[in-house]
Order: sequence, then structure tokens, then C-alpha cells
Amino acid sequence: MYKTMVSFFIAAGVIFLTSSFYQKYDLPKSIERGKDVYTTYCMNCHMVDGNGTPDVYPPLAKSDYLKKPVKLQILAVLNGQDGEVIVNGKKYNVLMPAQNYLTDEQVADALNYARNSWGNKNALAITPAQVKSLRK
Ligand code: HEC
Repeated sequence: MYKTMVSFFIAAGVIFLTSSFYQKYDLPKSIERGKDVYTTYCMNCHMVDGNGTPDVYPPLAKSDYLKKPVKLQILAVLNGQDGEVIVNGKKYNVLMPAQNYLTDEQVADALNYARNSWGNKNALAITPAQVKSLRK
């Protein structure tokens, strides 16, 4: 009985470890792809240095918004952002159009790039599956 239980736990452990290994998301690759997505779809407004434009386009560089729950960040990109938003203590109220024509992977990549550029650092990756689950 004891032996059966031990081998059961060992088997469960092996399955758990291998499955989490295969599910590990490649953040550096995502950031690399995200640079292109950002340059094409986000840079017009948020600028090459991520600093935006004073009083019009909020910064992504050192943005406290990127420290909010990732769900809010994903929704900002998918649905756009309307109404007043406060970023680093400054008010912005300009419409950001929905970027929902991007694929789940492109949304995740653009955010992972922004979350890891211009002094931002986030070891936690946003995955395409998370984006997919928030799409309307
Ligand atoms: C047409 C201009 C425009 C484009 C293109 C655009 N944004 Fe925005 N973005 C804005 C504006 C304006 C706001 C603030 C909206 C408000 O005032 O409510 C904003 C807000 C945000 C925010 C939340 C606030 C902050 O500064 O952290 C994030 C995150 C964001 N954008 C990411 C992106 C990403 C990623 C892309 C590309 C996939 C993108 N944006 C493309 C204009 C734009």
C-alpha cells in the first residue's frame, strides 16, 4: 500500500513537472516579436521611447498602469481606452482606438515588449491564452 502510494506520487510529480516545462512561455522571444508589433501599431502614439506625448498620449515607459493587473492592460489594448485615465499622476482623456484586429499573440507580444522596455521590467509574461480569454 505504502509503495503504491509513493510510486503514485512520483508519477504525479513527473507528469506535473514535464507539463509545466512544456507550458513555459518563451518571454524573451515574445519581447523580440513585440518590438515589431509595437513599431507598427503602437509607436505612432506612444512614441519610439515609450514616453508618449505630454497631455495627449500617455507614456508606457515607467507607466504605473503597467503595474496594474494584467487583465486591465490586455483590455486596454483589445478594447481601446476611453475616458479619463491617470498615468503616473497625470490625467489623460483621449480616445485610444481598439487594437482588436491584432492576433492574440501580437497583443501579448506588444505588451510584453512594453512591459520590458525603457526601464520597465516584468518577469511575468502575458500569454496569448490570456488575451484569448478576454476577447469579446
Ligand atoms: C491612436 C493612438 C494610439 C495607438 C495606436 C495606441 N495607443 Fe495606447 N493609448 C492611447 C491613448 C490616447 C491612451 C489613453 C486613453 C485615455 O485617455 O483614456 C492610451 C493608453 C494606453 C495604455 C494604458 C495607459 C498607459 O499609458 O499605460 C496602454 C497600456 C496602451 N495604451 C498600450 C498600447 C499598445 C500596446 C498599443 C499598440 C498595440 C497602443 N497602446 C496603441 C493612444 C494610442
